Amino acid sequence: MTDQLRADGSLRHLLTLETLSRTQIERLLERAQTFVRPLGARPPTSQALAGATVANLFTEPSTRTRVSFELAAKRLGAAVVNLEVQLSSRVKGESMLDTVYTLESLYVDAFVIRDAEAGVPGLVAANVAPHVSVLSAGEAHVSHPTQGLLDALTVYQRKQRFAGLAVAIVGDVRHSRVARSAWHAFARLGVTDLRIAAPAALMPAAGEFAGCTRHTRLAAALKEADVVMMLRIQKERMSEADLPGGERYFAAWGLTRERLALARPDAIVMHPQPMNRGIEIASDVADGPQSAIRDQVRNGVAVRMAVLAEVLGGRGARS
Ligand code: CP
Repeated sequence: MTDQLRADGSLRHLLTLETLSRTQIERLLERAQTFVRPLGARPPTSQALAGATVANLFTEPSTRTRVSFELAAKRLGAAVVNLEVQLSSRVKGESMLDTVYTLESLYVDAFVIRDAEAGVPGLVAANVAPHVSVLSAGEAHVSHPTQGLLDALTVYQRKQRFAGLAVAIVGDVRHSRVARSAWHAFARLGVTDLRIAAPAALMPAAGEFAGCTRHTRLAAALKEADVVMMLRIQKERMSEADLPGGERYFAAWGLTRERLALARPDAIVMHPQPMNRGIEIASDVADGPQSAIRDQVRNGVAVRMAVLAEVLGGRGARS
């Protein structure tokens, strides 16, 4: 695995939370919190990354992650390039690495990469010039580290602690990079009651999610939970034959108000989005008083500002 840290211990790449220490994660969360403002207030801006250039290379669709990385970079004064992959020379057969080398020659300092193929962000990180950083914006089913950070920040804002919390991660855990990064973050930050809940076909392989209790019934997973994180059915990572029927799935696994009442009265509801309303979550829960879903989106920009500041902030513009 590509080392994410420089020789001096500072963060150079962010590919996974799995190998970060608790201190490193807490530092990123503390930094992110300094960028959070209430909705309606102007977001903070600075010229901390003036002269730097960030390239978004997304070969899978995205709304939140791509836009919030772009806003994060611009609010820190960096220039941003969004490569439209379908209009780029990738469709003429150019490899990812040749695309990256080309952009490196155009003075890109950081690549933000989302790819359906496991290993792509790591491959790029292993091949870029020493001054260049790579940030994963979602790697296949493997990892979505900034999502894990924004989920942890959201929980901390609402609960002011991690110790003693019961966190239930529910739905298509098997195909979910969000679940894996949330698990890495929460486990590292001291959550000891971590539950994953899924129908058997969507449960990850035995040996994955060490330390989590496994539930194949939703009610048991929700009981007295402080945090309920619902996951999207990852249709794009399943064959037609494996796809659960929407109504049947909602009947067994959809989060309704009645089911949420099994959790603690002050439990919060999370979902990384995009949501399939009426399949994994009822609309009145998604938009209800216990929902922290919009906070998650807001925190996404703050977390990505913190990560960009961390990996690029120690370096002045090249002359
Ligand atoms: N949560 C998330 O990754 O959303 P997008 O796919 O819209 O970026």
